[in-house]
Amino acid sequence: MSNPRPTIFPGFNQILHGGDYNPDQWQHAPEVIEEDFRLIKLAGCNTFSLGIFSWTSYEPEEGRFTFDWLDRIMDRMAQDGHRAILATPSGAKPAWMSFTYPEIRRVDGQGLRDLHRRRHNHCWSSPVYREKVRIINTKLAERYGKHPALAMWHISNEMNGECYCDLCLKWWQEWLREKYGTLEALNQAWWSHFWSHTFTDWSQVEPRDFSLDGMRVDWLRFTNHQLRDFYLWECRPLRAHSVAPITTNFMGLHPPVDYAKLAEIVDVIADDQYPAYYPDDPNLVRSAVNVSFKGNLYRCFKPDRPWMLMESCTGAPQWKQPTHLKRPGVHQTEMLQALGGGAEGTCYFQWRKGRGSCEKFHGAVVDHAGHEHTREFRDVADLGALYRKLPEVLGSVVQSEVAMLYDWESRWGIEHSDGPGFRDEMYADAMCDHYHPFWEQGISVDVLSSERDFSGYRVVIAPLLWMLKPGVAARARAFVEAGGVFITTFFSGICDEHNLCFTGGWPGDGLMALCGVWNEETDVLREDETRRVRTTGGAWAGKKRVYQAGHVCGVAHLRGAKALAVYDQDFYKGQPVLTRNTVGKGQAYYLAARVEVDFLRAFYGKLVRDMTLQRPLAAALPRGVTVQERVKAQTRYLFIQNFNNTAKRIALDATCKYRRLRDGKAVRGTLALAPMGSDILAR
Ligand code: GLA
Ligand code: ZN
Repeated sequence: MSNPRPTIFPGFNQILHGGDYNPDQWQHAPEVIEEDFRLIKLAGCNTFSLGIFSWTSYEPEEGRFTFDWLDRIMDRMAQDGHRAILATPSGAKPAWMSFTYPEIRRVDGQGLRDLHRRRHNHCWSSPVYREKVRIINTKLAERYGKHPALAMWHISNEMNGECYCDLCLKWWQEWLREKYGTLEALNQAWWSHFWSHTFTDWSQVEPRDFSLDGMRVDWLRFTNHQLRDFYLWECRPLRAHSVAPITTNFMGLHPPVDYAKLAEIVDVIADDQYPAYYPDDPNLVRSAVNVSFKGNLYRCFKPDRPWMLMESCTGAPQWKQPTHLKRPGVHQTEMLQALGGGAEGTCYFQWRKGRGSCEKFHGAVVDHAGHEHTREFRDVADLGALYRKLPEVLGSVVQSEVAMLYDWESRWGIEHSDGPGFRDEMYADAMCDHYHPFWEQGISVDVLSSERDFSGYRVVIAPLLWMLKPGVAARARAFVEAGGVFITTFFSGICDEHNLCFTGGWPGDGLMALCGVWNEETDVLREDETRRVRTTGGAWAGKKRVYQAGHVCGVAHLRGAKALAVYDQDFYKGQPVLTRNTVGKGQAYYLAARVEVDFLRAFYGKLVRDMTLQRPLAAALPRGVTVQERVKAQTRYLFIQNFNNTAKRIALDATCKYRRLRDGKAVRGTLALAPMGSDILAR
């Protein structure tokens, strides 16, 4: 695990820093572009995404191509030693194309074809659009595939969405035929004898029927298949002329796109994140936990390669209301949070604010003022200067003994099933409940899909593992028998991969036997309701013995497990909330209710102590402070961050000598962090 890995751009040994750059919007003002190159140096930037939305500038009319501005910019980048991430322009189509070929525009759920407007709205199937994309990508690849400034390709932009045109529906029906073989199998998988929805011909399979949730889950699988197919289509001409890595920018946990699957076909993981921390936000710490959780997921998509922030914001994104200014310290803290989590580049949307259109008020390195004497620019330049001191961090990795399982398909399964207590963001929120106690102890957690091998960890946490894919429960059992600690919760083992409920008791498919508990019923509460929970026997929960559960209260029975906490209220008073079952050399825990984070703190706190899980610092951290550790050979890098609006002192390990990367100075004893401040120590 501790071998240095290659950098994002092989051979380019700097932290990537830069962003989306749109010189095509400034062709009328060459002096502005000249000024950009002066400012880039002052800002300590080195990497720019070019041409994301530039199709019309390359092909102003059908079949007539010109790459003048891009030639000049690419050459200038090379001359100044910068790197270009060159985009394919399919994220937005030229007006002439939309009007000549209306079929390239998407059809929505009501059957209406979209107007020519906005972006990210082309049909995934259209042979015309595919051909146009093939041609433009080929031109770009032939022209720049071996250009010295080219470091990576950026396919389209934030690929997402669905199209219901006739071509897409036909593709869907063929995809189903391939997947199921027979209509009998399909009808069975979707339980479509319900309401007489039995399909008797493939052409009847209309995806906009929300009464068949199994079909909706398959529709999401299919639209993801289309998206990946389009991505691969775009890559083909690039691959033919260039060896540069290829990627596309992801959008965090965006529910409809299964990024775990898309990750398998990109070369580099690139995410767009806009945390916009505000020190007076009562949910500040929780937002930070959430962002770290996403970073963990992104890091684990490709453990052998660093990931990068492709987009983030230097100031306020115009779409996030209220548009609070970034307070002092916040910018570095946001960016170092990504680096601490294994990223090796943080880029921005956008380099320079445009004068018009809907993103003219979106934060940028260069403001409308047009010079470097702004707070936003100084924040970026300070970070650029810090990054120049950080190349030694490149190649260091995050090591985890704990894994959490996060599945897009489980989330789809819950969200498309009518009834079971679904609330917006419930799936990700419940994940963060469990991650929170580790975050505040600085214990790193890997986040994986349940299809990945988790046998090498010491602890595996699987909250809301709604959809149990074949073999997962058996792997969980083998993991526990071999000595692992497995924790699962309410809404786990409910459905199989078709979103069909398991029969024979929940959690199904063997999890009931592993956990030694039967979750008979589920009580879903109003937002303002809670149920008291009492810990039983032993001192595992410290002094506090009574906690609250809310939202989901599973009503469960012991089937061999021991109860560690029970309800203290309602008709299910005395029934188990937390249980432990010993199987082979390990333990399986089941948590029947959505308990408050304090309860999880106590539970995981004890687990961490009992198992002596590794922590980067021996002393407890002040609330709202976290540490992320990266390791390279014998050196440990501690990214220490304060998500509080007040200064904090952090107790360092007494016997250790630390070196602060910011100024190279030795640090011993304690570290002082400013409000919203961050530091990086090496030991
Ligand atoms: C997304 C897009 C960018 C830009 C930003 C604004 O991430 O990819 O083109 O619109 O949002 O925040
Ligand atoms: Zn379509």
